[in-house]
Amino acid sequence: MQPPAIYVARMATEERTGGDAALLKRHKSVMPDWMALYYDEPLEIVSGKGRRVVGGDGRTYLDFFGGLLATMVGHDIEEIGEAIRAQSHRILHSSTLYLIRSQVELAERIAERSGIPDARVFFVNSGSEAVEAALLLMTTRQRSNQVLALRGGYHGRSFGTVATTGIRAWSATSLSPLNVTYAHSGYRYRSPFGHLPDDAFNRACADELRTMIETATSGSIACMLAEPVQGAGGFATPPPGFFRLMKQVLDEYDVPLVSDEVQSGWGRTGAAFFGMHAHDVQPDAITFAKGLANGLAIGGVVTDATTMNCLEANSISTAGGNPVAMSAALATLRYVEDHDLQANAEAVGAYLRSELEAIAADNPAVGEVRGMGLMIGVELVRPGTRDTAPEAAAQCLEIARRHGLLIGRGGLYGNVLRVTPPMSVTREEAREAVGILREVLAELAALMTSAEQ
Ligand SMILES: Cc1ncc(COP(=O)(O)O)c(C=O)c1O
Repeated sequence: MQPPAIYVARMATEERTGGDAALLKRHKSVMPDWMALYYDEPLEIVSGKGRRVVGGDGRTYLDFFGGLLATMVGHDIEEIGEAIRAQSHRILHSSTLYLIRSQVELAERIAERSGIPDARVFFVNSGSEAVEAALLLMTTRQRSNQVLALRGGYHGRSFGTVATTGIRAWSATSLSPLNVTYAHSGYRYRSPFGHLPDDAFNRACADELRTMIETATSGSIACMLAEPVQGAGGFATPPPGFFRLMKQVLDEYDVPLVSDEVQSGWGRTGAAFFGMHAHDVQPDAITFAKGLANGLAIGGVVTDATTMNCLEANSISTAGGNPVAMSAALATLRYVEDHDLQANAEAVGAYLRSELEAIAADNPAVGEVRGMGLMIGVELVRPGTRDTAPEAAAQCLEIARRHGLLIGRGGLYGNVLRVTPPMSVTREEAREAVGILREVLAELAALMTSAEQ
């Protein structure tokens, strides 16, 4: 596959000045230091088709991270590109002061799939804004700035969402407009309750939630914010029944549940269109972003009419609901449904997970393989222990790249590989990735074992 001509021309120029190295130098002189780049020699992705991308280094890679899960159905999808092109020739922007047909149509589809009675939808431009909007609504409705969040959760980079993020590495400030209490997330591998069987584990977490509400709050609580599967948290996935018990406790105290589905929505978990439904729980609000427009900026919140309409002042998002993003999202959802990508996520996800579990069974550097659908985490440890191995995750990314595979990284301690390809991934591509990951993890275990001798 050839990169588009425009990139070939630019790459040719940059090759003379050092290619990605020259771009990296320019990047470093003008971009924030805290905006991390993957790889010792960072990569520019210049084009893509399906699940493959071409790098500025001229190599083709199998993409199993999909631009941080935003490239939800793959690169250069004809139907989505065409919808964007057609809309951009009609009108790029009008603002929500005018009727936007595609916005209404998308809201209708999301409202229907949300399971929320008399649902209303508000569109913004990112996941952080989506969660901010939900926090604004819930704190206003409940007249409280007390929020429950989960340990290991990630909800964004804005002031309010950083305050609800339960991962130190992503918590840039402790200053907060909210009073946040962090409950147990169901991240079992490192939990003090981790040794318990599922039911007892869930009960222990729910009891702890009740104790926290009784001891750390004044009783009136805006909401609980939770990811059905923790994304940045390394795809920590609570056992079946966990969220059902947590929701019972929340209901006792009249605490609405906001499901942050920025990563888990649209069928990626395989088991349901929205991840919280896969846990058999109906949330009071759902936040979404990332994959909905297959990579174009989009986000939003869906909740019941009373909650949505509790604001007494005006509120607006100038570019939220813009016709190009709406058209891209409608085309993306159509593609997901027409190709039954939820079923594909379930089938290929189950295959990937069982193959990775088999690899892990005799690889001492893998502590746990977990996840749901196409959200699979591989937690790395020092061989023979449960000690975290964050540098091993960085090494794995490098080795995988060398073998032509792009994967992600996450976890509370940065020691989890994230395997999360676009939902259109085929079984053959999954098989290819498994073959590469087998070699990567074997190489890693050999390196770690010899380093410790
Ligand atoms: C669950 C979750 N919520 C919110 C966000 C924030 O989204 P954005 O980066 O679009 O602001 C993210 C981003 O990774 C996320 O994973």
